[in-house]
Amino acid sequence: MSTVAELLQPVEADLDALLADLRSLIGAGHPILQAAAEHLFAAGGKRIRPGIVLLLSRAISHDGELSPRHRRLAEITEMIHTASLVHDDVVDGADTRRGVATVHSRFNHRVAVLAGDFLFAQASWHLANLDDLEVVKLLSRVIMDLADGEVKQGLFRYDTGQSFETYLEKSYCKTASLIANSARAAGVLSGLPPSQLDDLYRFGRQLGLAFQVVDDILDFTGSDLQLGKPAASDLASGYLTAPALFALEERPALAGLIEREFCEDGDLEQALALVRGCEAIPRSRLLAEEFTREAHGAIEWLPASEPRSALRALPEFVLSRLY
Ligand code: IPE
Ligand code: IPE
Ligand code: MG
Ligand code: MG
Repeated sequence: MSTVAELLQPVEADLDALLADLRSLIGAGHPILQAAAEHLFAAGGKRIRPGIVLLLSRAISHDGELSPRHRRLAEITEMIHTASLVHDDVVDGADTRRGVATVHSRFNHRVAVLAGDFLFAQASWHLANLDDLEVVKLLSRVIMDLADGEVKQGLFRYDTGQSFETYLEKSYCKTASLIANSARAAGVLSGLPPSQLDDLYRFGRQLGLAFQVVDDILDFTGSDLQLGKPAASDLASGYLTAPALFALEERPALAGLIEREFCEDGDLEQALALVRGCEAIPRSRLLAEEFTREAHGAIEWLPASEPRSALRALPEFVLSRLY
């Protein structure tokens, strides 16, 4: 299976240009906020979200070329994503991200809150300047969803009675909404008909849900080094993700440990062992597989091209992160 760099190869030059552009876009503001934002952009994420926007934009364009507005949409997508990570790391008290110190641990909390706001604000400004009301609505909805997802996640901490639906709604808000709505927005900028816009949205949504379930599995199975961020941290924070929710069905003892918030020595280790030692991880993987199948099917109609092949391989790549 290919690496993310191989997969995004058809838009590699576009992504390099995007990163350079992002740095100059945020460059005009305050030196300290610039330094904070630059810190994370320089660390280099996987750039999957702008990669999807660029691949889709090329796949649906008549001459295979990208318009400046499609490029700008991809930049906005990565800005919104990075802003959400800066804030998410403050909320979670996470020390590392993309293999380097998080903004709040490298600088301080005030800088991180402002740097996140600054990025969201920049994203909104550039979004408005695309001059397409439908696209503005799609992406501002994403910013609402992100906030909603963080709040939902906080409300259900240590709540062993929460439904699987709640978890999926939270995952839609925190992760799938951005991928789904930016995919749709690429189609809007290209003037696609409603049924194809719906397909692009569905592709992004199902891929985003798969991506989040895989991230949630990796939190249990990966290492700090491999992930570039703290592993085994969701359960410790009281965030009950797919593996924990499945494990609760199989291991009744888990509920007690969670409900007393792992207050006794060895509680957390025991809980992690319960999750890792039952069918919860394989069942989560099956769930992610189902989402990736649906994502794969949603873009069958795209005309044959290199970007299309990369897009069709993306769902499989998301799963391959588990192996
Ligand atoms: C992290 O996203 C947040 C989740 C949705 C799990 P990525 O794993 O895409 O993060 P970067 O951008 O590559 O750092
Ligand atoms: C990912 O959620 C979505 C956002 C950060 C908005 P997570 O909370 O799982 O992300 P990580 O694991 O911190 O990257
Ligand atoms: Mg987090
Ligand atoms: Mg996570």
